[in-house]
Amino acid sequence: MYMLRSIIILATGASLASALDFMEYGNKAFDAIKRNLPDIEIIKPRQLALCPAVWTLVASELSTTFLNTTDLLCNDDARAAIRAAFHDCASWNTSVTGGCDGSLILAPEELTRSENNGLQDIGPKLLALTKKYQAIDSSVTAADMIQFASSVAIVSCPLGPRVQTFVGRKDSSTANVEGLLPDVNAPSADLITLFANKGINADELIALIGAHSSSKQFHVDETQAGAPQDDTPGEWDVDFYADTSSKPAGVFVLASDASLAADPQTSATFQSFVGAQAKWNGAFTQR
Ligand SMILES: *[C@@H]1O[C@H](CO)[C@@H](O)[C@H](O)[C@H]1NC(C)=O
Ligand SMILES: *[C@@H]1O[C@H](CO)[C@@H](O)[C@H](O)[C@H]1NC(C)=O
Repeated sequence: MYMLRSIIILATGASLASALDFMEYGNKAFDAIKRNLPDIEIIKPRQLALCPAVWTLVASELSTTFLNTTDLLCNDDARAAIRAAFHDCASWNTSVTGGCDGSLILAPEELTRSENNGLQDIGPKLLALTKKYQAIDSSVTAADMIQFASSVAIVSCPLGPRVQTFVGRKDSSTANVEGLLPDVNAPSADLITLFANKGINADELIALIGAHSSSKQFHVDETQAGAPQDDTPGEWDVDFYADTSSKPAGVFVLASDASLAADPQTSATFQSFVGAQAKWNGAFTQR
């Protein structure tokens, strides 16, 4: 989504070189994230032991929160946290302010919007965590908590990659502009334009929506509340790409996903992720 490389590495697995490669900020695909970070100097890669220690505590608590210890799959809080990170960041385009600023949970109005339906449980949880850990380290922001939680949620799903994650965002309690999140019924052309105006190109969009591997819908069709977008919503796999075109029983295909799977501009990329876990993980973590 990453989404967005909204994000710091939770574990020490990533190479030091990639953590230090701030040239990546030159990539316009990354602007949606970059823009809400303060000066590059204060970005703290954990590999340099500069990432504030508080985030280790946060990671520990969130890991427990997001894993179902019975089936060892990621749970509903995990999928909601992944979606929350996208919704905080994506309420922005190149001509309005907003983005990854914590306003999703800090501006009371934002969570009540229909475009944020389904996030009303995770929102207050993330806000409570923000306050809890701010008391330990005042550098903790809601904006960072949202992105960090998404990264922990992703690794809590089997096959989920470690997504490089940065902290240092500034909070805003001013609601972002409404209507900049993708509409589930929007045609592919509109979605491609919407994302282009956030600095995310068509191929990157297709990698990003693979996050629907772990999603369930509750409000698109309330008669099928809880229906997943692939057959294994507890795992971060690539079944979503296959299941969108060839729907197994019980899977709910979002109209927007079906439209992107069929669009000549995006269908080849969409199909290229079918059965290609490593390729998709690589593409997703570049977002
Ligand atoms: C955890 O997984 C078990 C087995 O699939 C399921 O019955 C239970 O409802 C899950 N718990 C939560 C909190 O999701
Ligand atoms: C950004 O969003 C605003 C508000 O919806 C809209 O008026 C404007 O056209 C958008 N600009 C771009 C570049 O997408």
